[in-house]
Amino acid sequence: MTLLQVKNLRVEFLQRGRALEALKGISFTIEDGESLGIVGESGAGKSVAAFAILNLISKPGRICGGEILFKGEDLTKASRRRLREIRGNRIAMIFQDPMMTLNPVLTIGTQMTESLKAHRSISSRKARELALDMLHEVAIPDPLSRFKAYPHELSGGMRQRIVIATALLTEPDLIIADEPTTALDVTIQAEIMALIAELCRRHGTSLLLITHDIALVSQVTERLAIFYSGRIVEEGPTDKLIKQPLHPYTEGLLACLPQNNPPGQPLAQIPGSMPPLEIQIPGCEFHPRCHKAIEACTMTPPDLWRFGNRFVACYKASLPATPQTLQQETKILEERAKKAATQPYHRREEDKEQLAAAKYLHPKASTNTPAAAKATKNASDAATQSVSETSQGSTPAQRSGKIKA
Ligand SMILES: Nc1ncnc2c1ncn2[C@@H]1O[C@H](COP(=O)(O)OP(=O)(O)O)[C@@H](O)[C@H]1O
Ligand code: SF4
Ligand SMILES: [Mg+2]
Repeated sequence: MTLLQVKNLRVEFLQRGRALEALKGISFTIEDGESLGIVGESGAGKSVAAFAILNLISKPGRICGGEILFKGEDLTKASRRRLREIRGNRIAMIFQDPMMTLNPVLTIGTQMTESLKAHRSISSRKARELALDMLHEVAIPDPLSRFKAYPHELSGGMRQRIVIATALLTEPDLIIADEPTTALDVTIQAEIMALIAELCRRHGTSLLLITHDIALVSQVTERLAIFYSGRIVEEGPTDKLIKQPLHPYTEGLLACLPQNNPPGQPLAQIPGSMPPLEIQIPGCEFHPRCHKAIEACTMTPPDLWRFGNRFVACYKASLPATPQTLQQETKILEERAKKAATQPYHRREEDKEQLAAAKYLHPKASTNTPAAAKATKNASDAATQSVSETSQGSTPAQRSGKIKA
């Protein structure tokens, strides 16, 4: 059964009177007991999505469209009281830094038992028993002494195990883990990821695991959703997506992994970087960095088209042709061609800023399209301006915001 259904979710932040979209209509589902990994570069909108699911977006941000159906109940319309009942109880969250969750002046035992008693009417004795059992389960050595310890007396890895144990205490339906291993020593990252996934499997808990590390997450979740610039660009079963990525951005992420590069050689990179929110890229947001870009890519954002049990937002993506996919693909290609033809991009005054984004241009894309060629010219203008602004000490993001077409 479907546990969580996110439908066309949009989130915006107000900045200097302008609404900047951090999520531009994302949709995905998580079934009971299923695990979904969300992957993307920094700034792609992963954490905003996690906070939005819990209806925790605060001013200057707001959910400006879509639905978040948790067991059929739309959380965007839930009362504060109802949300308090759900958060930390039916949906638990694990953050990057365990100290965001743990209180430094309370012992681990107090925090675990209080958190459980806040959502269950049970005795202190029973809560203590359950908390100690859970410490055993997350492989904390000598649970009794850790139970009496303060967070600062434990290592980072141990603290994150405590947070995982606390999250699981209420037997939630869903755990959202946002970069749960980024703050940890690299040697224990895989171990903690695997522990979260294994415990969720054992307890039948669904998992939404957010990370920038596609290699780590691909070992533990059943499905992956790739985020880019506030959109999902590809989604599908992990094994298929890793073996045969359909979106050029996913391809690029995988090509950067050390195991996919010859030893002793510099690692492959996706040229450029993801533009900040204030820069609007027309068409497919990835086109300035994409070596496969065609003219249509610079005009109309592609939809997230379905290919069997996979989804991809790209005009050029295709599965190897089989009798089944051929028929399906013909339909998709017709649909894509129709979209590109009937919805030309209407350039607005503020969209002129997109020219500043030309500095994100992929070198191979520069000769692909007239739009790209124009962008290359602007890139060199922008670079000239950037050099003069660097000497004035402004940041790259500030510089790109200042450059006008
Ligand atoms: N409170 C906020 N105010 C303004 N912009 C924000 C806020 N929180 C996030 N953003 C912007 O939303 C975008 C997505 O952020 P986030 O979801 O944190 O990225 P990530 O994928 O790294 O988790 C970023 O451009 C970020 O700057
Ligand atoms: S739609 Fe075009 S620019 Fe975007 S990823 Fe596909 S080929 Fe590249
Ligand atoms: Mg984040």
